[in-house]
Amino acid sequence: MANAVIVGTQWGDEGKAKVIDYLTEKSDIIIRFQGGANAGHTVIVDGKKFVFHLVPSGIISPEKICIVANGVVFDAEQFLFEIDELTENGIDVTGRLFISDLAHLVLPGHKSIDNQIESNMGTSKIGTTGRGIGPAYADKVSRTGLRVGDLVDWDSFCTKFIHHYSQKKNLFKKLYGTSPDLDEQEMLDRYKSIRTRLLPYITDTAYYIYNALQQNKRLLFEGAQGTFLDIDHGTYPFVTSSNTISGCASTGSGVGPGVINHVVGIVKCYTTRVGNGPFPTELHDSTGEKLQKAGGEFGATTGRTRRCGWFDSVMVRKSVQLNGLTHLALTKLDVLNDFDTIKICTHYEIDGEVIEQFPTNIAQLEKAVPVYETMPGWKCDLKGCTSIADLPPAAQAYVAKLCELCYDVPVLIISIGPERTETIKVKSLS
Ligand code: GDP
Ligand code: IMO
Ligand code: MG
Repeated sequence: MANAVIVGTQWGDEGKAKVIDYLTEKSDIIIRFQGGANAGHTVIVDGKKFVFHLVPSGIISPEKICIVANGVVFDAEQFLFEIDELTENGIDVTGRLFISDLAHLVLPGHKSIDNQIESNMGTSKIGTTGRGIGPAYADKVSRTGLRVGDLVDWDSFCTKFIHHYSQKKNLFKKLYGTSPDLDEQEMLDRYKSIRTRLLPYITDTAYYIYNALQQNKRLLFEGAQGTFLDIDHGTYPFVTSSNTISGCASTGSGVGPGVINHVVGIVKCYTTRVGNGPFPTELHDSTGEKLQKAGGEFGATTGRTRRCGWFDSVMVRKSVQLNGLTHLALTKLDVLNDFDTIKICTHYEIDGEVIEQFPTNIAQLEKAVPVYETMPGWKCDLKGCTSIADLPPAAQAYVAKLCELCYDVPVLIISIGPERTETIKVKSLS
């Protein structure tokens, strides 16, 4: 398999990690390139569940190399926690997990600011994960952040940390009349032991990847969040603070765009969203609850209930455009097993006008009324299906309609359950 980027095509939680785990077999290096511990990536293998927030999901496959690249905002404590969990489960990461020295650190103050901003926003809050993502990226762009590589020289780290913390504390006090309840010396002590544990993982990952490419190693880029949470192209301001689309794999890891051969869009067969913001096909009724229950739609990071609705092809068409999708991976088809009829949004109506293209203006989007085509359900279990031909005719028709509405981008796989084995292979990545 050549080099591939995996991206979410909706609002995150499409089942990216399940597909990454599936594709890891044919890859050598799995790379996280944006976002941070706001991600919650679930992989289930032989009934055992792993949830990753920072460590790439490929780590559970022995001998694969995993990289947390420069575009990620790095929560060191969360990272070490995940390593400990992996070790407890008999998964050894020694010598095959690396962190970019250029990745920015998410510091405890960033989380305090994230939560304070949210609580000050009242009803207009974004509903962030509280993981300090926005404030850490804000520091990066303001050129006031600390990076993983700063930890290498401890004395210089201490100076930078103390300066950074005192600036934040003052600003926080001026803005909110209070300051974060964090003891500076205690934090430095914490970082001192974190540093000792992190040093073996820190390297120039862009150079590592460059050398790997010279040896024809195959790269798998693990996107986090989803296209409509992208800081530029998503439903701003109800988005995350990084670019989540495929182009970010290049800047977020330091490879040229020509390195990328395939872009696989993960498409949940219905739609979910966690956090606030517009959601045209959201169902506020018992059908929405049924989807939520059947899909186990609880956030893997915050445990919040995910909002649910019918599949929205207007969104996914835009995802095809923004990411240059070469393949679709359809997930959670099995969640629709028990519905008499299933709706699929073909286009919107805004002020009585037919709209085929997802609006860039959020006020327009808020007025969008989804227009549906109703398809018959299949009312049976998909367990044991190993090809499209094995699927009941109504499920085949649903998949065909979904693809037709999404520019007929070729389907790579169809996922019919959370387990690695519950996957229908349709194509291979060359
Ligand atoms: P990610 O953030 O895109 O990696 O997705 P999450 O891990 O947050 O959420 C996807 C959830 O759906 C996880 O609990 C997966 O185990 C589960 N899942 C993935 N694919 C399927 C599938 O085809 N069917 C079902 N029923 N569950 C799935
Ligand atoms: P994965 O990788 C779903 C959402 C939050 C909130 C908004 C901003 O598991 O698909 P942030 O903490 O990033 O500042 O929050 O983005 N969000 C996600 N929603 N899946 C995710 O990641 C998400 N990461 C962030 O709920 O609405
Ligand atoms: Mg998730």
